[in-house]
Amino acid sequence: MRYRRLLECVAVVAACIASGTLECGGLQPTEAQRHGAQAYDRMCVVCHGLHGEGYAADQAPMIANQRFLASASDDFLRNAIEGGRAGTTMSAWGRLRGGPLSRGETGAVIAYLRSWQEGPRATLDERPVTGDAKRGADVFARECAGCHGADGTGGTSVSLGGRDFLTSASNGFLRYAIAGGRPGTAMEAFGRKLGDGGIDDVVALLRSWQAQAVAKPSPPPPRPPPIPLGPVPLNPGGPEPVGFNAAPGTTKIDVVKGQLDRGARMALLDARAGSDYLNEHIAGAVSVPFYDPDPYLAQLPRSAWLVCYCACPHAESGQLAQKLKGAGFTKVTILDEGLGVWRARKYGTHEGLDP
Ligand code: HEC
Ligand code: HEC
Repeated sequence: MRYRRLLECVAVVAACIASGTLECGGLQPTEAQRHGAQAYDRMCVVCHGLHGEGYAADQAPMIANQRFLASASDDFLRNAIEGGRAGTTMSAWGRLRGGPLSRGETGAVIAYLRSWQEGPRATLDERPVTGDAKRGADVFARECAGCHGADGTGGTSVSLGGRDFLTSASNGFLRYAIAGGRPGTAMEAFGRKLGDGGIDDVVALLRSWQAQAVAKPSPPPPRPPPIPLGPVPLNPGGPEPVGFNAAPGTTKIDVVKGQLDRGARMALLDARAGSDYLNEHIAGAVSVPFYDPDPYLAQLPRSAWLVCYCACPHAESGQLAQKLKGAGFTKVTILDEGLGVWRARKYGTHEGLDP
């Protein structure tokens, strides 16, 4: 009798180790998982949701999806987190790119994401692609473009055409996602509809996009965060802005631009990760990341309006505004439309460390 209980116990622990889950067998979260959870709660929840359910803001995918976790390798996760996805609101969170996370901290976040995984790693079909990209283009236009965008970018769902994604997604990862979908999300299983051949045609199309995508020259290694605060406010001798709505209210982009052109006294705060700021920010803006505004609080003016913005279009800026209000700032507003619209209207952006 005792012997059998012991065997059961061993089986449970073995299953836990294999699946990496925390719930079974009373295993406690590891130090890394606890550390990763803190970073995740501070930086990622705003878009990916408290439990990785996704779509808290923007089109941030469901990371806790079992089919995603079973098919994504640690390298895939590391690339996504450290390098981000250029052209989307997924920032580069790695230090080397100007983000906040060291290699070890990224590892801790990955350990935390793995704690959501219930099953073992999926067996993936990694054979070379034999499909035909031309046929794949017809399938893609018919079945996929409605959500993923005509060339795999700019759609309502996660982009498939970007270089960052395609260089780290293996053939097996892509086949697995397309054939079986992502239950619980809008991504349905296409295995039956397209067959293995149809799927390979689409993967061939994705690989042809990857071949065309040009690598962006990597920016010079930034100094470690935080980015020093630039001059605030803009137009120190200017008039008080008119028409700003105090947070949680938002202010329309044309009102902000109008007041800026009028020489009004205000500061523009970029709420995104430092790496995004280095890449592109509103001309004149300073970097105050939503997850860690503390180093800047003492230097921010209390008598001038602070306009918070991000790109998603106002989830991160909303969080920054909330924290500023919590720290006693009252003249705080949120840019309604975000950086994407600012850029599209050609209102002026800069790259690099300088405002
Ligand atoms: C501003 C919103 C936002 C924040 C904050 C954010 N992400 Fe993302 N994330 C996204 C979006 C949007 C995508 C999909 C990008 C695309 O279209 O390729 C994404 C993609 C990912 C992916 C790849 C998923 C896949 O299916 O390919 C991972 C992993 C990920 N994020 C992890 C994180 C982690 C960890 C953090 C915190 C350190 C974080 N994200 C913070 C918006 C966000
Ligand atoms: C109704 C909308 C919709 C359609 C149509 C659709 N997808 Fe998706 N797809 C999604 C969503 C949403 C996700 C992200 C799911 C998640 O949150 O994990 C996704 C994820 C994916 C992924 C994984 C990407 C990643 O970063 O993890 C691949 C690959 C993919 N889709 C390929 C396709 C292909 C190929 C087609 C057409 C045959 C297609 N999708 C059709 C909505 C769609």
